[in-house]
Amino acid sequence: MEVVILDSPHQAALLAAESVRALISRQSQAVLGLATGSSPLALYAELIRRHEAGELSFSGVKAFTLDEYVGLPAGHAESYREVIRRELEVHVDFAPDAVQGPNAQAADLAQACAQYENAIIAAGGVDLQILGIGTDGHIAFNEPGSSLNSLTRVKTLTAQTRKDNARFFHDDIDAVPALCLTQGLGTIQRARHLVLLATGEAKAAAVAAMVEGPLSASCPASVLQLHPHATVLLDEAAASSLHNGDYYREVWSAKPKWQGL
Ligand code: GLP
Repeated sequence: MEVVILDSPHQAALLAAESVRALISRQSQAVLGLATGSSPLALYAELIRRHEAGELSFSGVKAFTLDEYVGLPAGHAESYREVIRRELEVHVDFAPDAVQGPNAQAADLAQACAQYENAIIAAGGVDLQILGIGTDGHIAFNEPGSSLNSLTRVKTLTAQTRKDNARFFHDDIDAVPALCLTQGLGTIQRARHLVLLATGEAKAAAVAAMVEGPLSASCPASVLQLHPHATVLLDEAAASSLHNGDYYREVWSAKPKWQGL
């Protein structure tokens, strides 16, 4: 796992954007994994900026979102499919239907989950998966206790996650759905490169558990310790509970920048 501690959330977004650009320039038909939540928003803004500057085209790129609430009407502003549409998709040049999410409107949710797994495999798998982390250590919506080998399935959100996400629902925790569909930790592990963004003091404990704690379903994000190519981009606040922060800073400052992430 490569841990990069940066001076600001903006720098983390710029590094992640550069990694996406480098991937698409090597592989115009790349497959991206897109996360929601507030952590990747600065990255998406930078990707849009680069697209508008003529530096980046998504015309051959496919993308899969990580997760979706169950129980929101189609097109609800806070459904994750809608968030991705609003924050990224409509501003760049994805082909129609190039971005997919798990179908939380399906009558048979288990079947919709299996279909989603198959769609990711049929697309050749995810090349670069963007991730955030919840304060309880979740990635996508894999809450504590999630099997480290899990695939896309229905999950129940913890009270903590619903409380954290109530800010997107006019601070009304009762408006936050209790159920979701989420790619599993096994699904996420299949992506060829994981890039996790975490900023702010509120993420410090979860980040320390993910990077330096035991590999455990109790901290689902710790599964990144198993991945051969996982990059964790942090600001100083999110890195503030790490024991080996100085070592990670040393490694990064000595790394030849041409290597990328
Ligand atoms: C949400 C999403 C995750 C996201 C996380 C953190 O519930 N399901 O994909 O990474 O929680 O969100 P934020 O970046 O807003 O802190």
